[in-house]
Amino acid sequence: MDSQEIRQKFLKFFESRGHKIVPSSSLVPADPSVLLTTAGMQQFKPYFTGQKDPSLDFGSKNTISIQKSFRTSDIEEVGDESHLTFFEMLGSFSFGGYFKKEAIEYGYEFITQEMGLKIDYVSVFEGDSEVPADTESERIWRSLGVSNIKKFGRQDNFWGPTGLEGPCGPTTEIYVNGVEIWNLVFNEFYCRPDKTLEPLKVKGVDTGMGMERLAVAVQKKKNIFETDLFEQLIDQIDVADEKVKRIITDHIRASAFLITDGVRPSNKEAGYILRRLMRRAMIYGSKTDFERLLLKVVDLYGGFYKELNPVLILEVFNKESNQFSDTLARGMKELEKISLVDAAVAFRFYESYGLPFEVIKDKNPDLKREDFEAEFKKHQEISRAGAEKKFGGHGLVEGDLMAANPEELKIKTRLHTATHLLNASLHKVLGDVVSQRGSDITAERTRFDFAFERKMTPQEIKQVEDLVNNKIKENLPVKTEEMALEEAKAIGAAGVFDSKYSERVKVYSIGDFSKEICGGPHVSNTGEIGKFRIIKEEASSAGVRRIRAIVE
Ligand code: ALA
Repeated sequence: MDSQEIRQKFLKFFESRGHKIVPSSSLVPADPSVLLTTAGMQQFKPYFTGQKDPSLDFGSKNTISIQKSFRTSDIEEVGDESHLTFFEMLGSFSFGGYFKKEAIEYGYEFITQEMGLKIDYVSVFEGDSEVPADTESERIWRSLGVSNIKKFGRQDNFWGPTGLEGPCGPTTEIYVNGVEIWNLVFNEFYCRPDKTLEPLKVKGVDTGMGMERLAVAVQKKKNIFETDLFEQLIDQIDVADEKVKRIITDHIRASAFLITDGVRPSNKEAGYILRRLMRRAMIYGSKTDFERLLLKVVDLYGGFYKELNPVLILEVFNKESNQFSDTLARGMKELEKISLVDAAVAFRFYESYGLPFEVIKDKNPDLKREDFEAEFKKHQEISRAGAEKKFGGHGLVEGDLMAANPEELKIKTRLHTATHLLNASLHKVLGDVVSQRGSDITAERTRFDFAFERKMTPQEIKQVEDLVNNKIKENLPVKTEEMALEEAKAIGAAGVFDSKYSERVKVYSIGDFSKEICGGPHVSNTGEIGKFRIIKEEASSAGVRRIRAIVE
């Protein structure tokens, strides 16, 4: 059974049992408290919590998806028999439609009948001081004739939440050939940011099965790389070391999907992860024909994931590759000149030129990874301290915004994009004499100061407000691009140029309407902002006006 058949069987099985097929969401999640999508349940969070109604949106309380997922925690494990960064997760969900009995029965039937596999054993939650043991799941498994049942605690048999808070609950896991292949989560609680549990009004089911591990079992292979999901990829890599081959295969496949979902190599967040994957692949596989490999990924996966765009993938990959080979060459030349390479020096080369530990170690075989990592950590702490100083010590920090929780971050993000629209609208209505003097965003409002000699007329205020709302209605896409500061100035991006910008900056553009240098974050489309309203226009100081505005 090839992987395409497995996918179809999974979707059909649940569809014929009252589940609505929902397409995978993007690898870049809407929830700003998580970097990348790590599980199928993420796009369904509001249905578990009751904020959204599944019957309204899907015509059913049960859904099914094959979710593009990415786990950064597994990067270092890649190369063994079963770990990956990017993977496909087969998931079934119920938001108050059914609970443990049906979920376990479907799981049992799919694995044993549809896939023809034998379940080795299952695991259930053993219970602790807060949450009782899951005896119900145990009973259901026994009723199906599965008697090899192991019991584990929080670490192994309790899920969630993703991000700072969210649905969570005990799990039961299905093991085939000694490997966990399916995780069935029973979301009974909402886990708050302070880790306390609050019972959910409606109990939900969230299951996730790794496509690649399932394929190993179904196709009777020794490891994931021998399945049809990887075989044609790994065969193209001309490297002797099996582990290295696997790393290149994983990283290139993951890069293709990340690029497709809008991630671009950079030094921050998801962009940094993509850059790291690409650079690792380039270093390990210097003789690999990456173009061919990437096209093969599109070939293998494009049938199911129609969004994979070979032109875009090659363009982004080649740009990074060219840039990196120059940097690498310069770094190697600099490294040659240095006689003593200790951990601090190694880290500096890593930081400045992207030289990986493995390459630097060639120069000094005594270099220890833990020392290098200690330097890395030290550096991370310094930059975190910088962010905390800037934002006053606590909370969620993203780009230029700080918030107490993800909800607040969302409101501030909407206000943030609204502020860019306001700035551009002021320029349109009052002319280019307007120049930004400052801005401040709270969860309630945005405050924007700009140089302008006189009070605005009520008509002007109305014109500005209408213009912002028109741009919101047009639902313009918000795009970001990283470039040199000089280049940003050259394309006319707005900015407060007497403030300190680094050499490379991010420029956010909203359709053709606004372009600003900014650290983000912003909404993806202006439609997400809601209705914009100016509540006050007053003098801030001589020659400077101040506007307060809200979004509704
Ligand atoms: N959300 C669960 C997981 O990803 C199903 O394992």
